[in-house]
Amino acid sequence: MSYEATRRQVLSSAIASTIAGAAPGAGHAHAAEESLSARFSRSGRFFGSAIQIEEVSREHDLRSAVLRECDSFTPEVALKWNSVERSPGSFDFTSMDALANFALANKKRLHGHTLLWHKSVPQWATSLLFEKGGWKLVHRYFQAIFSRYGHAIAQWDVVNEPIETGYRMDGLRGSVFLQAFGVDYIARALWEARGLAPEAKLLINEFGLEYDLRVEHDRRYLFLKLLERLRNAGAPLDGVGLQAHLDLAKGGLSADVLGRFLKDIADLGLFIVITELDVKEHEYILPVEQRDARVADETRRYLDIALAQPAVRGLTTWGLSDRHSWLQITKDDLARYPEAWKDGSNPGVNRGLPLDYSMNPKPMYRAIAESAGRRR
Ligand code: XIL
Repeated sequence: MSYEATRRQVLSSAIASTIAGAAPGAGHAHAAEESLSARFSRSGRFFGSAIQIEEVSREHDLRSAVLRECDSFTPEVALKWNSVERSPGSFDFTSMDALANFALANKKRLHGHTLLWHKSVPQWATSLLFEKGGWKLVHRYFQAIFSRYGHAIAQWDVVNEPIETGYRMDGLRGSVFLQAFGVDYIARALWEARGLAPEAKLLINEFGLEYDLRVEHDRRYLFLKLLERLRNAGAPLDGVGLQAHLDLAKGGLSADVLGRFLKDIADLGLFIVITELDVKEHEYILPVEQRDARVADETRRYLDIALAQPAVRGLTTWGLSDRHSWLQITKDDLARYPEAWKDGSNPGVNRGLPLDYSMNPKPMYRAIAESAGRRR
């Protein structure tokens, strides 16, 4: 059997056993408790999740969970350039309109994710950006997006993941944008956005800034330098998004290092949003209780540091339940644990989000709830 076919079989049997094991209505076990967004709102913060409207419309338990827990939604896919402009100049807003209507009808706010990301450039645009007047394509895309959602969305990830180590001294990623427009493309994108949506809050969103690892030290340094340069140039930047894709294989989180980094951002006059929290596991062979405890501990550790910083305005998780996580168990993970294949119950899915596959809250849910409520 191919790797993919085997993986699918393992996943589907794990999923079947999870569903079979869940008591009827277990998804509502937390219904009597205060929702995560209610807990965050007490300190003036929001709590949200990335969603795909197609899943929310199809899966009623997901719909109730996101409506109950969140006061903010991030489009996981729908707003990205390759989603809305599949062919040059022809925009399709079906999915994003449905998501925006769902949010507005339920009085939820939206986080605008994301405008310039090297991984969401439409195929047709990559070479055209290099031609004379290539920026016009960026302008047309920004204009289409802001004229439709500029009033509905208050904060935007204008540039996503601009940092890369080992490429240039200034730490800028050698993306198609850098290559086509030079180092000023970030400030230019911010000005473009400011012109089209003067009231909107504009952010740069970045990953790999959490851990006490050499590469993440470098990334934090380079990111701060970028923010400083933008500020000194007077670029219209209001805040930063920290993705916070936590990873149990990356070692410890240091309160000193991370707390200092958050303070450095705040000292630049910028606010902070935690935009994509989830936890990547690796030891899938452990009993589920231990896996869930590790995920919860990592989340608690991170949030206790992050939420101590007053500049942090809110938290978004990258999906609410393990059923919808973008995190996949990799071939390497499985190769390390051949035993995991035997009974089909492990590894199942990555368990790095607050609700499990059947929408039951896990220890990670409690960790988030408790961190949100902790007095500081
Ligand atoms: C991911 C989505 O979750 C996937 O469904 C999609 O196929 C690719 O993008 N950092 C980001 C997000 O900023 O946009 C990415 O989302 C995950 C990593």
